[in-house]
Amino acid sequence: MNEHDELEAEILLKIEAAANLDALDRIRVASLGKTGAISALLKTLGTLDDAERRIQGPAINGLKQRVADAIARRRASLEAAALEAQLAAASVDLSLPGPPRRRGCVHPTMQVMDEMIAIFAELGFGLAEGPDIEDDFHNFTALNFPPGHPAREIHDSFFLRPGPDGERKLLRTHTSPVQVRVMRRANTPPPAPWIAAGVAPPIRMIVPGRTYRRDSDATHTPMFHQMEGLVVDRDIHMGHLKWTLDTFVARFFELPSVVTRFRPHHFPFTEPSAEMDVQCDRSGGAIRIGEGREWLEILGGGMVHPKVLATCGLDPDEWQGFAFGLGVDRLAALKYGMPDLRDMFAGDVRWLAHYGFSAFAVPNPASGLS
Ligand code: PHE
Repeated sequence: MNEHDELEAEILLKIEAAANLDALDRIRVASLGKTGAISALLKTLGTLDDAERRIQGPAINGLKQRVADAIARRRASLEAAALEAQLAAASVDLSLPGPPRRRGCVHPTMQVMDEMIAIFAELGFGLAEGPDIEDDFHNFTALNFPPGHPAREIHDSFFLRPGPDGERKLLRTHTSPVQVRVMRRANTPPPAPWIAAGVAPPIRMIVPGRTYRRDSDATHTPMFHQMEGLVVDRDIHMGHLKWTLDTFVARFFELPSVVTRFRPHHFPFTEPSAEMDVQCDRSGGAIRIGEGREWLEILGGGMVHPKVLATCGLDPDEWQGFAFGLGVDRLAALKYGMPDLRDMFAGDVRWLAHYGFSAFAVPNPASGLS
């Protein structure tokens, strides 16, 4: 054994024997540190002649490398042992609360839309959508609004700046223009992929969506949600409308039945037209549906006006239809007890945490709506 081998064996023994990381580090400094034994050997290379250096160089560098490797191995095993020891000594208190986590939730309006879609899907209705930015033709003219109708005025509706051709578009004031789009597009492809294709009668469609009016108080917000319903077939009459809505309302409020009443009303695009009220009780601050002697308006509807059918290319002597428009936010507020509609769109996460729904609570008729 030469001098180098002896040095190496001695250092490797010490490394194996190092009891902890501090001891190991002292060995590292004593061998590989600036003034360490191996560093001192490396320094002697400069004093050797070429032939000797060619032998000693690789030998000493090999020695240095083996020692460095041995130190790294020993460090890894000492660290693992230290961790083992720490884990063995520590105890975990499973009763401590975990760190709080913010969980997102589903907005009541969206939840209620899903509930409504589930109910109407069961009744055989399909889904259609239309654009939020609508033109005068679909929002008013095709729906038989006369030229001077107040909804066409700037103080009732949000109009966009007129385009180069002078056309003044607006944010749709209701989902009824989608009735027109669905009926008229029966034979033409939809203008955009997210807009449902039109269908030929018989038609059974609901149309959920955002709508806009210049209105803001506890029961009105400038943006709100509606769900339009449209049925077109042969021999359709008001009785079908009433049954459909009575059935919907009872399922929605999860009651065996709900007493409703139709009040004569006027919409340019339905004839006859009605508003539907549900029986409720308002004593004691809260609104309870299905009891009491008061009435609450929840929707408008009626028989599709023959002029609207004709404008959409359907012969009113052959086809009849009914249509209705439900206020989604208002139904959500009624069902889940929110006093002020404006809170629904204030974007306050505390409100949402209180009224929101778990993303896993997907409404479907089989497992229950809510
Ligand atoms: N579009 C009407 C509204 O927004 C509601 C409605 C829809 C009435 C369909 C009749 C038929 O008030």
